[in-house]
Amino acid sequence: MNTWTPQSWRAFPIQQQPHYDDPALLATVEQQLHSFPPLVFAQETRDLFSQLGQVAEGNAFLLQGGDCAESFSNFNAPKIRDTFKVLLQMAVVMTFAGGCPVVKVARMAGQYAKPRSSDLESIDGISLPSYRGDIVNSFEFTEAARKPDPNRLLTAYHHSAATLNLLRAFAQGGLADLHQVSRWNMGFVESNPLKGRYQDIAQRIQEALRFMEICGISAQNSPSIRETTLYTSHEALLLNYEEALTRRDSLTGLWYDCSAHMVWIGERTRQLDHAHIEFFRGIHNPIGVKVGPGMDELDLIRLIDQLNPDNIPGRLTLITRMGADKLADKLPALVRRVQREGRKVVWSSDPMHGNTVKASNDYKTRDFEAILREIRNFFAVHQAEGSHAGGIHLEMTGEHVTECTGGAYGLSENDLSQRYFTQCDPRLNADQVLELAFLIADTLQSVRK
Ligand code: PEP
Ligand code: CO
Repeated sequence: MNTWTPQSWRAFPIQQQPHYDDPALLATVEQQLHSFPPLVFAQETRDLFSQLGQVAEGNAFLLQGGDCAESFSNFNAPKIRDTFKVLLQMAVVMTFAGGCPVVKVARMAGQYAKPRSSDLESIDGISLPSYRGDIVNSFEFTEAARKPDPNRLLTAYHHSAATLNLLRAFAQGGLADLHQVSRWNMGFVESNPLKGRYQDIAQRIQEALRFMEICGISAQNSPSIRETTLYTSHEALLLNYEEALTRRDSLTGLWYDCSAHMVWIGERTRQLDHAHIEFFRGIHNPIGVKVGPGMDELDLIRLIDQLNPDNIPGRLTLITRMGADKLADKLPALVRRVQREGRKVVWSSDPMHGNTVKASNDYKTRDFEAILREIRNFFAVHQAEGSHAGGIHLEMTGEHVTECTGGAYGLSENDLSQRYFTQCDPRLNADQVLELAFLIADTLQSVRK
């Protein structure tokens, strides 16, 4: 193998990158980014790594979620707060009702680059470059908006920094205090059919907290009651950006991509001899790879060996996204092979990307039932193979959007137009993900028994 450097990916073929007209401007931006402070600190990244090690061993569960694509225009505190709150509420339900520690990783503070199925988008006979995420170009369908602009890398950095700052403040500044979290009565819980169950859990947590306080364990003396840790993650697609934020840790001398705690490779850029695998093999973050239904057993072992040659649990998360029906057919052989060869990985389920459909009114959507079926099949396969179903990876938001059909309120195709705001894929709304959290908690509990 060649010697790895943060730049060595540049000698490899690469997919899904924008074409910039002004390479000199791009180079200047890269240099600037390179001089900026890292967004995360290597020690935090190592903490996540070891927690994911626990997930790989079956002692914890990974909850990863957030927008399909964050945007520069819809960038405000309530939006960040609401997604933070929903992630925490899901984690509380899963921890308490599922009886399992939950590692929380947001798809936030950097989820700005999108792979696309085609380079061009055509509307009414006009073809323009596809939207590739706000770090590359703009969503509006005009020639100027769709032109890749290097300055957007700087904007993405500043937006990520501000998002991360607020997430840290929420996690440590009192908003995440368990006393508060269990009392949160967000609008959606009010009219949700699951309200009773949520309130029951909240009440039991309050009782447990009162009991602990009597025993001398309180928010004042136990940070774990008062604070939480929410890690960040995104698809590290735009390697110019990731390279510029890759730094050598002064404590260990190891390289970390300091744009987020965890980064993943998408389904469309995981070719074994391409640039993304090259870049990822040299960074020491915990990393993910999306695994679609076309993955071959032997290629999977090769991919694992390139990315985690020392077989360290927590290093590699395989995020399967096969579709509800294909999963039952394709996943068992992959799991069996990984088990047989003794490779330590976290298996996580992305039940979103294999279940995208076009509604009769042309909206891109996903049905709650299909999402649920993929999750159930995921758990069933792992149980049958004696492996751990380690986590879940969701496209979701705390906003009251109507982008996925189904769920307890039975959103129909006709409801989609009401609040369809996504710039990319359809997301589950707060009600729908909380419903999922209960269902996952039930499954976790039965698996753990
Ligand atoms: C995504 O997670 O938004 C995505 C593009 O997924 P995939 O790489 O699995 O298609
Ligand atoms: Co998506």
